Amino acid sequence: MNSVRRPKTLVTGGAGFLGSHLCDRLIQEGHYVICMDNLITGNMDNIAHLIGNDNFKFIKHNVTEYIYVEGYLDYVLHFASPASPIDYQNLPIQTLKVGSLGTHKTLGLAKAKGAKFLLASTSEVYGDPLVHPQSEDYWGNVNPVGPRGVYDEAKRFAEAMTMAYHRYHGVETRIARIFNTYGPRMRPNDGRVVSNFINQALRGEPLTVYGDGSQTRSFCYVSDMVEGIWRLLNSDVVEPINLGNPQEMTVK
Ligand SMILES: NC(=O)c1ccc[n+]([C@@H]2O[C@H](COP(=O)([O-])OP(=O)(O)OC[C@H]3O[C@@H](n4cnc5c(N)ncnc54)[C@H](O)[C@@H]3O)[C@@H](O)[C@H]2O)c1
Repeated sequence: MNSVRRPKTLVTGGAGFLGSHLCDRLIQEGHYVICMDNLITGNMDNIAHLIGNDNFKFIKHNVTEYIYVEGYLDYVLHFASPASPIDYQNLPIQTLKVGSLGTHKTLGLAKAKGAKFLLASTSEVYGDPLVHPQSEDYWGNVNPVGPRGVYDEAKRFAEAMTMAYHRYHGVETRIARIFNTYGPRMRPNDGRVVSNFINQALRGEPLTVYGDGSQTRSFCYVSDMVEGIWRLLNSDVVEPINLGNPQEMTVK
């Protein structure tokens, strides 16, 4: 890479919750950012503040189709995918396609451009884990035909494809297994516990706790997650890395 040149980065899913925060951070770090999104679950409001910025370009495109980017590219960050259970259960085929075809297309682009590739994977690759907490060497317990299979298996395929491009084509790859993240720009009705609680509180309603509330979760604030993704991108770690808040708390 030419040392005086501004790094150029493609963020797929850049109009979503995590992707938009990532676009903000990359621009802060001096990158030229191309945000590619078909807005299936994302929203232009998330990137409205970036429109008109000379170092930002939005392209509306479905990344399961052939991706064209003019000129050089240094990084490809593949964040496109429905991510909340409500979304991927409403969009099962789109979820499978963006995890499989979309990952193939973005890896192909990274290979063609000689760019470093980072995959947004998920803690869901562990399925209904039989091991707590999950370390990266645990292979998971996934039901391929259950309601969450479309998301879990798409991401597992995406990880396998990423490693294949690394091993066979020598593409520099990173895999972030992202755990629950919360913060500004989450959709209020995405069905996740933090947004449910906040919505109910804003409406003055009692908070709904499923079961006896003894189930545990961990929540990572979005700026911490972005910091983790940034550090992983700049590391030399090829194996998947869990990113999240290690401190679990009961839902209660
Ligand atoms: N938010 C979390 O806690 C969490 C946890 C684990 C993993 N992740 C992963 O991080 C990524 C972003 O999640 P998020 O919470 O920001 O979700 P999100 O729904 O807010 O963002 C996903 C974005 O991808 C876009 N997209 C989906 N399919 C596309 C396609 N075919 N072509 C182009 N764009 C497409 C959507 O329009 C949306 O803007 C996802 O890959 C998700 O699996 C998120």
